[in-house]
Amino acid sequence: MTDKHWKPRTLAAQALGLEEPVTKAVVPPVHVSTTFVRDADNQTRAGFSYGRPDNATVRHAEAVIAALEGASEALLFGSGMAAATAVVLALPQGAHVVAPREVYWGVRNWLTQTAPKFGHSVDLVDMSDLDAVREAVKSGRAGLVWVETPSNPLWTLTDIAAVAEIAHSAGARLAVDSTVATPVFTRPLSLGADIVMHSATKYLNGHSDVIGGVLATGAGGALWDAIKSIRTRHGALLGPFEAWLLLRSLRTLEARVTAQATSATTLAARLETHPALSHVLYPGLARHPGHDIACRQMQGGFGGMLSIRLEGGEAAAVATASKVRLWKRATSLGGVESLIEHRAATEGPGSLCPRDLLRLSVGLEDPDDLLTDLDEALGD
Ligand SMILES: Cc1ncc(COP(=O)(O)O)c(C=O)c1O
Repeated sequence: MTDKHWKPRTLAAQALGLEEPVTKAVVPPVHVSTTFVRDADNQTRAGFSYGRPDNATVRHAEAVIAALEGASEALLFGSGMAAATAVVLALPQGAHVVAPREVYWGVRNWLTQTAPKFGHSVDLVDMSDLDAVREAVKSGRAGLVWVETPSNPLWTLTDIAAVAEIAHSAGARLAVDSTVATPVFTRPLSLGADIVMHSATKYLNGHSDVIGGVLATGAGGALWDAIKSIRTRHGALLGPFEAWLLLRSLRTLEARVTAQATSATTLAARLETHPALSHVLYPGLARHPGHDIACRQMQGGFGGMLSIRLEGGEAAAVATASKVRLWKRATSLGGVESLIEHRAATEGPGSLCPRDLLRLSVGLEDPDDLLTDLDEALGD
């Protein structure tokens, strides 16, 4: 039983307040059955027939995410990439996709190398340059505009409302990868996006123990129906155990990401004047190029991700990452443990990431400990 006036944090804390009907448990069970008994007249009135299209635990986690995003519906996938690519695969054949040049590299590689095999054409643009976006989103050819904000790994901001207007005026749909912003700080659907996407592997789950992805919609429509069909036909549904872990994690989302953003703000401010650094990239810093958009678009925090660039170049960046004792040298982001990564090395050949850059995912440790460890590694 939920009240429509309750805030997202309230709804998430109780996983929508659903009580398990047999025992009245406050923690839901995991529904693992792959098949379901039909009624005597062969109907499926309970709503389930087979485990590939749908699952009750997955539905429960989807309902919480939909509440957090202000969405009418959400769909969970086996990874963020499965969610992102389902949007493009659902487009009519030969669609035109406009995406940012600075975007999660897995998405960029898929769009440039795999999407053309499905007949789609892809233009990569500077999403912070609205004239460039307008030029790329040509009427008649438009299919989808893809935005990631803040985007990997420079945390560039895109004005979602402005790009939504450009996309819609050309007949295109807008999808926003809001993985880094989380529904706590930005709700893209309320700014005009048609679809919001997350790698649930990151903040939504937040404990580095689930790979998952999600899409959410405000109004549904033909593209949404095609996405649903792709999830079923491609067998891309999230597994029930992963959905259960995600459901557990969503209950603490706001508390986690608010603390992570506060620590990231503290670290960014204290690193800004560090002599070993040429740049500290964090949307919460006044000198960050996207700061004004971030102030308008992000409510309550600027996220837990920042990047630092070293005066000493790539060698200094690699050496710093090798010396930390508290930060974990690992890829990914959004977990409770802080991660440091030489991003260009992870992305490999073709990476657009500056080679002197270290990407930092701030966890829930004491920010003083994180700063001391980083400072020692930078200073030696
Ligand atoms: C912003 C962003 N989008 C999408 C993805 C892909 O998500 P997954 O690894 O869950 O497939 C990632 C993964 O790092 C990401 O950081």
